[in-house]
Amino acid sequence: ASMEQLSQEQLKEFDEKGFLFFPSLFETAEMDSLTSQLDDLFALDIVCNLREKGKKAVRTNWAAHNYNSAFARLSRHPRMIKPVEQLFDEGVYMHQFKVNAKAAFDGDVWQWHQDFGTWHADDLMPEPRAMNIAIFLDDVNEHNGPLMFIPGSHKQGVLEAGHDTETTSYPLWTLDPKTISSLVREGGIVSPKGRAGSMILFHSCLVHASGSNLSPWDRKAVYLSLCAVSNHIKRFKRPGYIAGREFAPIECLPDDCLVQDYEVSLPWSDGIPAEELQGI
Ligand code: SIN
Ligand code: MN
Repeated sequence: ASMEQLSQEQLKEFDEKGFLFFPSLFETAEMDSLTSQLDDLFALDIVCNLREKGKKAVRTNWAAHNYNSAFARLSRHPRMIKPVEQLFDEGVYMHQFKVNAKAAFDGDVWQWHQDFGTWHADDLMPEPRAMNIAIFLDDVNEHNGPLMFIPGSHKQGVLEAGHDTETTSYPLWTLDPKTISSLVREGGIVSPKGRAGSMILFHSCLVHASGSNLSPWDRKAVYLSLCAVSNHIKRFKRPGYIAGREFAPIECLPDDCLVQDYEVSLPWSDGIPAEELQGI
């Protein structure tokens, strides 16, 4: 299925709730091109595979679009890029590209947070002119740690947060229980669930979290964090594989790019360049 421009109705819903859900947007053959890569990706002994605290299970694989052809093609997919270009009315670049594994039994929590809080505090991204767009790589149900959103919470702007370096293997600027309780009294909690191939678009100020995965089902998902080109980050404190430093606008491939073999450049195929491995 290709996707036209977001409709007036969808734009209104996005403005009100801070996210849009597109069930089963990608077909099985398209998803197979991605999921067939994951065992190999997670088996790589590289810094781009962050493991769960005290465990072998991969929590997050970073920046596969720079060294894996299928994910490189996904990173230029019009169904992911075009809606965000439309919302910002300008070109976008890849601020962050990740696969979160949320492995069966081992997948740990993501505390309550706003992504823009971290991007602003750590990377000096000027404005919340960046979006997340995610695709489920597994079916997502109520048991395998679905994302939890507080609808409308993106309207709060940047909320005060504390830097949590303890709870999980990944440091995050997180929100306190009092703030969450009051936001949830207002907006409730919603968890989009659906088949692999479903897509979620969400605002960088939308408050979200996910629980641990005690089920026997993985909950892998791929996230593109796309930033308006004019809003690029100003500080390179985090390594380039976590906070991208390539600000040229993404050029989309044709809509069939997951099932046709388009040629893409893989700048890190011979290893991650030393300057991308650390903060400056
Ligand atoms: C995130 O907030 O960046 C990821 C949350 C999740 O994958 O559950
Ligand atoms: Mn997040």
